[in-house]
Parts: sequence; C-alpha cells; structure tokens
Amino acid sequence: MRVDIITIFPEYFGPLTVSLIGKAAARGDIKFRVHDLRQWAHDIHRTVDDAPFGGGPGMVMKAQVWAEALDEIAPPGAAVPAPYGAGALTGQADRPGPALPGPRLIVPTPSGVPFTQARAASYARCPQLIFACGRYEGIDARFIDEARSRMPVDEVSIGDYVLAGGEAAVLVMVEAVGRLLPGVLGNDRSASDDSFGGVSAGGDAPEEDGGDGAGPVSAGGGALPGGPFPGSMIPPGGVAAGAPAASMAGLLEGPVYTRPRVWRGREVPDVLLSGDHAAIARWRRDAALLRTAANRPDLLWRAAADPGTLSPRDWQVLSAMGLSAVLQPTGQRPGDEEHGQAGPGGRPGPRSAGTGPGMGGKPARLPAGPPDMAD
Ligand code: 6GU
Repeated sequence: MRVDIITIFPEYFGPLTVSLIGKAAARGDIKFRVHDLRQWAHDIHRTVDDAPFGGGPGMVMKAQVWAEALDEIAPPGAAVPAPYGAGALTGQADRPGPALPGPRLIVPTPSGVPFTQARAASYARCPQLIFACGRYEGIDARFIDEARSRMPVDEVSIGDYVLAGGEAAVLVMVEAVGRLLPGVLGNDRSASDDSFGGVSAGGDAPEEDGGDGAGPVSAGGGALPGGPFPGSMIPPGGVAAGAPAASMAGLLEGPVYTRPRVWRGREVPDVLLSGDHAAIARWRRDAALLRTAANRPDLLWRAAADPGTLSPRDWQVLSAMGLSAVLQPTGQRPGDEEHGQAGPGGRPGPRSAGTGPGMGGKPARLPAGPPDMAD
C-alpha cells in the first residue's frame, strides 16, 4: 500500500518509523511519503491560508495550494474516472467490498463520517491512500468538491472532540489500517479477536459471520467462575448452552491475563488454565458481552438489533444478567426465558433496569444518554 500524507507539519510523522508500522514501512509493505504542503505555496511567506468569506474566527486553507499538491501527487489523468458523488460515498467505505483501483483521498475533520474498524478494513484494501491534513478552520470546500470529481473522497472524524489539526488523526488511522495489512500483525488471528475485530462495529452487519454456531455444549463452562465480574448474575455453573458465536464482531474484547497465575493474591480464572478450548471460547464470549454491557451499551443495543450477531446462547447470558428485556427488539428469542419489552417503534432502547457486571446483583439502569456521560 502507498500512503501519501500532505501536511504543514511533516515532522509530526516521525512516529511512522517506529514499532509495527515502522517495520512494515522498512519491509516496503507500506510506502509512506510525507509532503510539506508549503512547497506548493508560491508567495514569499509560503502562505497556505486566508480569512474566511462571511467572517468569523480563524483562517481557512486555500483551495489552490491544496489542488496543486493533489495534482502533483495524483495527476488528474491517471486517476480513476468519476462519478464519485458525495451521496454515493457516504458510509460506503464501511462496507467491505472490492477495493477501487487508484488513490482515495481522506480528509480528517471533526465534521466527517466516523472512522470505524469497518472503515479501516475497507481502507486496508486500497492501493493508495492520500491524507490531506487540514489545520485552522479547515480547507476551502471547493478543493474537496473538485477532488471528488476525479477520485473517491472521504471526510472522516476519529471521534466526538476537536483536535487542532488532522495530523494526530492521520496517525491514528494509519495505525488502524496498517495493522490490518497482510503480514503486518504477524499473527493473523489477532486482528479478528480484537474489540470490533470481526470488521464490523458501529452498526454494520458483519458479512462473514452468522454468529450462531449452535451445538450441544455441557453446562458449566459458560459462567465466569471466580471471574472478573463478581457482580455478574450468571449463575455458578453457567447457563444452558449453545456454542459461542465465532467472532467478536460488534463486541468489546474482555480481560486478558498472563503469568504468574496468582499475582498479589489475585488469581487467573480457572477456565483459562483448563485447556478446554470450547470452555475458554465461551468464557471469553461471556466476558465480551459483560464488558460491552458495562462500557458500551450502545454497541450491545446494535448487536441485539442485528439478527446475525448474538447467538441463542448469548441471549441466555444476557438474560441471566437481566439484560435481555432491555435489549430485545421484538418478541422472544430462541432459548430466552424472558419476554422482551420492545422499545418505542419496536426498536431496542435504553429503557429498563438490568444487572451489570460489578454491580453486586442490584438492578442498575443502563444510561439513557451517551454512555460516556453515565459515570
Ligand atoms: Cl479527523 N480532525 C480534527 N481536526 N479534529 C478531529 C478529528 C479529525 N476527529 C475528531 N476530531
């Protein structure tokens, strides 16, 4: 993959020589080229910005400087032809699919579409990414409109906060994309076991995993005995079983442990030492459900609304936590004892009480507002 980064702070990208990404670059798996935007500014001061039309604070980056940079890095004739309408592009990179030939322009901005694991996976299939790091109040919109007439362009945000410029966001995106390239991670399984690892998070159905994996499994392996969540309502001995879904798509990864087995009096959960791979997989799945319920209930609601994501056994675990009624979109799930109460319009919603991890068995409300406002 080739990655071009256009910035007024080339020195910001020193970290690209370090660690996993640095090694991938040294091997030639990723070819980075960092360009100083000011080389396309012509006046004595190498000006790249000007006052905004319509007034207001701050400065806007000039379309002409950016256009000359893009023309040189991705000459117009060489690019893949239009149409690349804004509507057609919005969210499209979240859908895994065949990579488009030619370069893709990514403009980091807090006003952009969310950068997700699915988007990272999609970018990992592109032959060339060009990042345009804006500063100040952003880039003259006509530059982005014109670029869109000759290549796919995404305005992308890495979160709901405002950075001083796109450089830090580009480092984030490059690392998320780079580690998905073949051979970069070393262990191909690692990426799919991560939080969001099954490609999809943030509302997109995973395409490669039905997530059900039914099959008889003995009771007893599914709980978190002596596990990390003493307040869990999962009974000792676990809940009646079906195999866990194969990927952690849409869920957060649970806790991990290494030697020593006992550290400062704290023991590693026995199941992880059992050598019983099915039981370990079930434990990890349960831990993922618990952690997702605690930290990102919004992701759990999405998983619940997506028929392929949660297995019958997952629903049993959620039911044992008292969460299935909160999550259930419509009707009853197979293997679920409880009748779910549909949210408004039949959609799942932050409605009733549930018992979460570490809550001592007391009913707890899922936050009705943004999850990170709940603490
Ligand atoms: Cl991509 N850029 C800037 N400047 N601020 C941000 C962002 C990007 N994502 C969140 N905040």
